[in-house]
Amino acid sequence: MSRTVYVNGKYLPEEEAMISVFDRGFLMADGVYEVTTVLDGKLIDFDGHAARLERSLGELDMAAPCDRATLLAIHRELVARNAVTEGLVYLQVTRGAADRDFAYPEGVAPSLVMFTQAKSLIDSKAAKTGMKVISVPDIRWARRDIKTVQLLAPSMAKMAAKAAGADDAWLVEDGQVTEGSSNNAYIVTADGTLVTRDLSNRILHGITRAAVLRFAREAGIKVEERAFTIEEAKVAREAFITSASTFVMPVVEIDGARLGDGAPGPVATRLREIYIEESRKAAV
Ligand code: PDD
Repeated sequence: MSRTVYVNGKYLPEEEAMISVFDRGFLMADGVYEVTTVLDGKLIDFDGHAARLERSLGELDMAAPCDRATLLAIHRELVARNAVTEGLVYLQVTRGAADRDFAYPEGVAPSLVMFTQAKSLIDSKAAKTGMKVISVPDIRWARRDIKTVQLLAPSMAKMAAKAAGADDAWLVEDGQVTEGSSNNAYIVTADGTLVTRDLSNRILHGITRAAVLRFAREAGIKVEERAFTIEEAKVAREAFITSASTFVMPVVEIDGARLGDGAPGPVATRLREIYIEESRKAAV
């Protein structure tokens, strides 16, 4: 069934939605995006995603297409029109259409495109069995804190993982894990400490990460935000990833090394439960 998508002020059947060939998002990946989860027909952490979008736009001197309240209204309208109860809303803002030039054009209106993707997120096979990851070099640019649409490096990492029979890749720079191809990465050390990379320009500041670290601290889990190596991860008690589309997802194998007994660990399992429960309560 055809979806209704949103393009620059209009709700259209997906076949009729169009963007200019001169759009800088298409020509230069000059755009930013957000992915917001829908559960029970409601949005998870909308304000967190809206705040990060505003920050991404600010870092790139890109105009906001509309204010936060309008953005929320469009999200809700799309969810309603497409009758999405579980899935995602994808949002992309680009600098707009202009003659090709490396300098930013002046006086050009940004483009706003949004669409929904229905998807079963809670009932996940990987949450029960755990994921396998491999490590690959982090070849991305140096401003990973900006959520841009230049996603070829993570796509290549994901394809390397698939070719190796794994589910995803953890990215390694200067000998240390930055994050997953499209998620934040965590380990639980032998003494039960939850470790994840500290915030900087080297990683995306995950909205799920912020919530999960808050819930972990509230649950009395010791949290350390610092870099870790693949060697440390391979001997960790457990590991997991977080993102809007996976919530908390256990990792049971890293570069062929099985963690613990090879089953999802108790910390990941518990944090997944808490995250889903609390997010549902706070959804808008
Ligand atoms: N990816 N790190 C990277 C590189 C990401 O692309 C993502 C999100 C995250 C997790 O951020 P959050 O918790 O805010 O979803 C971390 C989205 C889901 C995507 O590209 O589909």
